[in-house]
Amino acid sequence: MNKPKLRLGVLASGRGSNLEAIIQACSSVKIHAGVEVVISDRPQSQALEHARRNQIPAIHLDPRAYSGREEYDEAAVRLLREHRVDLVVLAGYMRLITSRLIGPYKNRIINIHPSLLPSFPGLHAHRQALEWGVRISGCTVHFVDETMDQGSIIIQAAVPVLDGDTEETLDARVLEQEHRILPQAIQYLAEDRLEISGRRVVLKSPKPMAGVNVISPLIEIGL
Ligand code: GRF
Repeated sequence: MNKPKLRLGVLASGRGSNLEAIIQACSSVKIHAGVEVVISDRPQSQALEHARRNQIPAIHLDPRAYSGREEYDEAAVRLLREHRVDLVVLAGYMRLITSRLIGPYKNRIINIHPSLLPSFPGLHAHRQALEWGVRISGCTVHFVDETMDQGSIIIQAAVPVLDGDTEETLDARVLEQEHRILPQAIQYLAEDRLEISGRRVVLKSPKPMAGVNVISPLIEIGL
């Protein structure tokens, strides 16, 4: 492909497993993109370590150095611009972002959320899913707008909830799928194949895909 790689800026606060999945997908040329900068609000975020280990600029942007969320986001935009970022990926980023970041990157910010949105937005999605008693949960990659976890949905994966699941076991099962659908969403964007039509995101020229339909609990009577 002669097209230049999509330049990614990843914002993360925690363990950074989604960042790792993206870096891996980029280096194994599964996706035509590269992580140009990783920014974290937390100095101890493992995402920063993963970035450094992969020779990617890793920046701790300390919220205490800014007077408010707007000023913080402006500083983030300056860094993203310095690194000529095309697409911002929120991968376990725990801060609410403001119009100061959304404005300059309209339709160029995506987020991964560990539930089948619009169910269970916000914090503790797995706890919410278990408390509700759903038999199927999953994860969602969506565009980020001014609302919380309500932007247009790009891709979702369903994951069964099993009897005896805890937040930890469900998280582990959902994470496996997060690590597949987030790189896939980035690749769709790298190929410029997504069209936003109202709330719907349309995938242009879909290719034959491997997919699974999930039913949970499993059907036992041979239907
Ligand atoms: C993931 O479950 C993601 O869906 C949510 O935060 C978690 C981040 O995990 N937004 P990691 O830091 O990528 O390992």
